[in-house]
Amino acid sequence: STYKIAAIPADGVGTEVVDAGKRVLAALQERHPTFALEWHDFDWGTGYYEQHGRMMPEDGLEQLRGMDAIYFGAVGWPGVPDHVTLWGLRLAICQGFDQWANVRPVTFHPGVPSPIVDAHERELDWVVVRENSEGEYSGFGGRNFGGREGSGEVAVQSAVFTEAGTERIMRFAFDLARTRDRKKVSCVTKSNAQQYGMVLWDDVFARVAQDYPDVETEKVLVDAMAAKFVLRPEDLSVVVATNLHADILSDLGSAMAGSLGLASSANLNPERRTPSMFEPVHGSAPDIAGQGIANPIGAVLSAALMLDHLGHPEEATRLREAVDKATGAGVRTRDVGGAATTEEVVEAIVAGL
Ligand code: NAI
Ligand code: MG
Repeated sequence: STYKIAAIPADGVGTEVVDAGKRVLAALQERHPTFALEWHDFDWGTGYYEQHGRMMPEDGLEQLRGMDAIYFGAVGWPGVPDHVTLWGLRLAICQGFDQWANVRPVTFHPGVPSPIVDAHERELDWVVVRENSEGEYSGFGGRNFGGREGSGEVAVQSAVFTEAGTERIMRFAFDLARTRDRKKVSCVTKSNAQQYGMVLWDDVFARVAQDYPDVETEKVLVDAMAAKFVLRPEDLSVVVATNLHADILSDLGSAMAGSLGLASSANLNPERRTPSMFEPVHGSAPDIAGQGIANPIGAVLSAALMLDHLGHPEEATRLREAVDKATGAGVRTRDVGGAATTEEVVEAIVAGL
């Protein structure tokens, strides 16, 4: 089958890794012509903002609506405030298309040094499921309560938890756990300190768990979970957390696996009413952008998640295996202890297909 894919590389290394991912996908499609991708390229991002005063056109979502998936790079560039770029493009798409489940696997790769020295012997592998539509990033709040800036201003940023939004992410996490070898969901909370939203979160978790008696459960405070990631990661399989908590924990997980540049993610609308979006976890990395040294693996593994979503798990597995062959053979970018360029990693992955 043929799929319409929107490519939005946006800013900095986003353009380099999306280009890398597209080339790997083209090579995969050539060797295993079970699918075809029809690319639609969009030049939205900070450059577009500088010309047009907005991150994407007014009808941006309408242009994307007919796509089968969105392949995204990263947004943000010095000179424009990060909240403007993030809300103007990435969050606008996530929220506009109700991509309420964000899946962020934490995977370890042969030949990639991890700060967890014996990570490879321990066969670590877990997934962070992030509530992606509400919580701390619902955009609810305001400034200038009690005075203007510089005169005792107060700002309020509220977290919003709905029962429906919480229940759907919990069910998603339990359903995902059932597909894994280790059937376990760890619920991340902070209900000792936050007595409204986080207690609702815990209550819904406990209620949904009753429908999944075959799945093991635990409830862990977010601070303790940060420690657990480092000290007992073999206890983890599916970790479900709020928008903010999962954002932080998944970066910790990717650092444990060796680099932020390895981490992949899927922003899913599980009902498939709207296109889902696949993107590396990392940002635009202005410190290394334009040098041809960005690690393309986060973007390539995001393409594997996209293939899973499109119904091509065998092709996704081939991509993952080719990535591990490349790292195992020592073809690694600087962030993971090597000296290879983005191009050399792409060539090694393509050769491994
Ligand atoms: P970042 O992820 O861009 O960079 C953090 C560190 O990781 C840097 O040292 C960078 O060199 C390194 N890194 C990131 N991706 C890499 C890759 N593919 N290969 C090798 N090394 C890599 O995060 P930072 O510096 O906090 O933010 C930079 C910009 O990106 C900001 O404008 C921020 O708002 C934006 N951002 C966008 C995200 C998105 O579009 N989803 C996510 C995170 C940040
Ligand atoms: Mg993040």
